This record gives sequence, C-alpha cells and structure tokens, in this order.
Amino acid sequence: MSLVADDVVVTYGRKGSAPALDGVGLTLGKGSIVALVGESGSGKSTLARCLVRMREPAAGRVSLDGTDLLTLRGRRLKAFRRRVQMIYQDPYESLIPRQRVRDIVAEGLAIHGVPKGERDGRVREALMAVGLTPVESFLDRRPFELSGGQRQRVAIAGSLVLEPAYLIADEPVSMLDVSVRAGVLSLFGDLRRTRELGILLITHDLATAVHVADRIVVMHRGKIVEEGPARRVTAEPAHDYTRALLAATPDLGRP
Ligand SMILES: Nc1ncnc2c1ncn2[C@@H]1O[C@H](COP(=O)(O)OP(=O)(O)O)[C@@H](O)[C@H]1O
Ligand SMILES: [Mg+2]
Repeated sequence: MSLVADDVVVTYGRKGSAPALDGVGLTLGKGSIVALVGESGSGKSTLARCLVRMREPAAGRVSLDGTDLLTLRGRRLKAFRRRVQMIYQDPYESLIPRQRVRDIVAEGLAIHGVPKGERDGRVREALMAVGLTPVESFLDRRPFELSGGQRQRVAIAGSLVLEPAYLIADEPVSMLDVSVRAGVLSLFGDLRRTRELGILLITHDLATAVHVADRIVVMHRGKIVEEGPARRVTAEPAHDYTRALLAATPDLGRP
C-alpha cells in the first residue's frame, strides 16, 4: 500500500525552460512520515500537487497502490480524493472565515455523501483526534476566534474526518508561531501511529524534519539529491546541498 511518484517531470511555461520537476521518484507508505526538504523553488509544492492529482506530470507517473492516478475517473477519482488529503501552509487562507468549526470540519462529509445523522459524531471524533478539547468549546467558534495552531488543527480535522490514508502537508507549520510548531508536528507523529497514516511533510527546515520523520528526501532544483533514514541524512549527509541546508539550520548545524 503506497503512494508512488515515478520519474515525474513537470515543466511550467515555455518549452525548453528548466523543468520544475526533473525525473523525481518518491514512495510514501502507510504508517510512515517522509519529510521532503529543500529551499524555496526546488519543486516541493509541484511534487505535492502531482501526488494529489492537481497537476499532471508531463512524463513519468504517480500511482496509488499500483493504479496510475490519471486512469481514475468518476467514483474512483472521488474515492482517491478522499484517501489522499492535502494540508496547506496557511490555515487562515484554507478556512472560510464566517464558517463555524463544526461546519468547516463537516464540509467534506457532505461532499462525500456521509449521511447527516453520522456527521456530528464524526466531527467530534476528528476534533478530539487533533487535540481540540473539550470539543464543545470549539464547535461554534469561527476561524478568527482561534489561534494559528488551533486553526491548523481544524484544517487537519477537516481532512481526518474523511478517514484518509495519506496526508500531503505542504509546509504545515511554517506560518505558525514557533511556540506551537512542535505541538502540531507531534500531532502528525500521533496520527501516523494511531491511524497508520502515510504523511508527506514538506518543509524547508531540516530541524523540523528530523524530529518527526522516518525518512528525509532532499530536493534541489527539481531533482532529488539525497534520501535516507532521517537520522542518517542529518548525521552523515552525503550531498553538499544537504550539508548546506544543515549549516543553515542552527540547532543541527553543529554537533
Ligand atoms: N504555477 C506555476 N507557474 C509557473 N511556474 C511555477 C508555478 N508553480 C511553480 N513554478 C516554478 O516551479 C519551480 C518550483 O516551484 P515550487 O514547486 O513551488 O517549489 P517549492 O514548493 O519547493 O518552493 C519554481 O521555479 C517556481 O517558480
Ligand atoms: Mg512550496
């Protein structure tokens, strides 16, 4: 069971311009966290979009449990959308300001035809799972009545409520106050364990990656330059670019 990118190429704009992704391969298994790191512009979000089928690769393929995403239509595409969820960087932008938490979290349930009678219970369960307790005190709040960390938790609950198998989280803590980042990251760790989620954690920050990820994949200019177990990549980086990223990471750069 895995979500796999295989030799994926994406080029924006005119023919002949440098590809945003230049033959990228990546495997995300259930119950594991893979951190995708690299500086801004290295192609991380482009790969994320390919993995959730928001963008078609020009070459190569992306598959879920062996099925090429591009072959999915109708009901099977809808099932895919439910199984593979994207979490965005800015929870404020991804939430509708006037909606209440209960409606934000329930939205996907309506879209996917979950019977009305089941929705309330599912919403409460998801809020519990993301640590927004007591649930009663959050149900009727609106985004502006929440902290940044709480907003990101609401967004995560809105995905979890659909019982996905994979989360593609594109810089999920980089807009958050430093003081709440660790809490949200350890939530991803919990979800991996308790729900066997496969999580792609995109970040430009290696320090973020090493604490929660099993594997680290390093991207540079549309190519993967290094990958391996998180501790190995940070302790013994094999590539110059990884070393440069480490040097730019204050709490990892020096032993
Ligand atoms: N919609 C787009 N149109 C044109 N170029 C894009 C678009 N999205 C990204 N790019 C370019 O593709 C490259 C990779 O971008 P992106 O995947 O957003 O990188 P990252 O998420 O690592 O910052 C960059 O050079 C960026 O300018
Ligand atoms: Mg990005």
